[in-house]
Amino acid sequence: ASILVLHGPNLNLLGEREPSVYGHDTLEAIDARLAAIARDAGHHLLSLQSNAESELVERVHDARREGVDCILINPAAFTHTSVALRDALAAVAIPFIEVHLSNVHAREPFRHHSYFSDLARGVICGLGAQGYELALQAALRQLNN
Ligand code: DQA
Repeated sequence: ASILVLHGPNLNLLGEREPSVYGHDTLEAIDARLAAIARDAGHHLLSLQSNAESELVERVHDARREGVDCILINPAAFTHTSVALRDALAAVAIPFIEVHLSNVHAREPFRHHSYFSDLARGVICGLGAQGYELALQAALRQLNN
């Protein structure tokens, strides 16, 4: 199966960006671990980080054409703003899991609302980079069922 990981704006700065909130792992390190886990399970992992809403929307559209089976997404700041990215995921109807490094519910009130959570298969937040691995494990188990 093929799994797509999408990372929203500013996540290219992981490792140097507010490490007390987002941890010390770089995005490259996170993606490499996820790719290895998927490969060991006999699956294929694709990933994209973008600071541009339109690029993420178009990547979701392409995912349907490519037959992507499952999406893991950290929409980052677009979590709280992007009806367009939400609509793209609804349109392609590919199951997705929402991931946040930080516990958004313990932060500013504007981070408490997500445009994605009610459509997501599941939501993981507050567990740092490990959250992506847990989401991938869940996705792999669902794909095997
Ligand atoms: C984030 C939480 C968002 O509120 C924030 O805008 C981010 C990252 C997280 O992973 O904790 O950029 O999605």
